[in-house]
Amino acid sequence: HINQTSLLESEDLLIIAHRGASAYAPEHTLVSYKLAKELGADYIEIDLQMTKDGHLVAMHDDTVDRTTNSEGKVSNFTLAELKKLDAGSWFNEELPEYANPDFENLKVPTLREIFEEFGHDVNYYIETKNPDQYTNMESALLSLLDEFGLLDETVEPGKVLIQSFSEKSLRTIHEMEPSLSLVQLQTQKEAKKATKKTFKKISEYAVAVGPNYKAIDEDYVKKATDAGLHVHPFTVDDPQEIEQLENWGVAGVFTNYTDIYEKLAKVR
Ligand code: G3P
Ligand code: CA
Repeated sequence: HINQTSLLESEDLLIIAHRGASAYAPEHTLVSYKLAKELGADYIEIDLQMTKDGHLVAMHDDTVDRTTNSEGKVSNFTLAELKKLDAGSWFNEELPEYANPDFENLKVPTLREIFEEFGHDVNYYIETKNPDQYTNMESALLSLLDEFGLLDETVEPGKVLIQSFSEKSLRTIHEMEPSLSLVQLQTQKEAKKATKKTFKKISEYAVAVGPNYKAIDEDYVKKATDAGLHVHPFTVDDPQEIEQLENWGVAGVFTNYTDIYEKLAKVR
């Protein structure tokens, strides 16, 4: 990305490793993020939940049911309790094709541990999940970013992106740290009804939109781009769909297959 003013302006399609290299390793584990980095992801995608004692942890669901060997809401676990859980074995059972004994008993990482592991060596695409359920999720996130020097002026623009389905959460972050680049996520329903006016409003606080790819077409991409927004649809695992989206002018895609370019090469 030499000579780019911002990572976001890259001419190549940005590959956002959705929950890490989650097609090949248990989502939201350090192993999954490391693999995404090795496979050349432009961004590591991280969903955030918060423990009972206020630690930010990487997990998609607000319960531990699907991705660990226990049950219950994340917010009912202290970090110490959460750390006892096995966040890898479910993958071996669900996806035997990529099962690996090394995945057994992997732990749920905290955002702190993720920053300790990768520092400034990767680009982060971080989602505030269920922000209405958690108090001070945004300030906890910003203080951790600050502690790891990720808010410094010297940090490349776009190195850290914060995404959310919640406009409120994004506006809160924008007020606290206007220099951070934000992404408004949209459900299928929201993306379908988005108009010029919607994009104009989003551009007050965000630099990109992340719509469900199933709801968008060329006209959507044009309207969003005309409003100055980048378009990063989620979650696209079919190389042909990616090619079409690229032709429409999207700037990046969330994918579970970090090596999607190899798949793309086969269809081109
Ligand atoms: O953050 C983009 C995409 O990941 C949104 O969907 O449910 O996978 O977090 P979800
Ligand atoms: Ca996400």
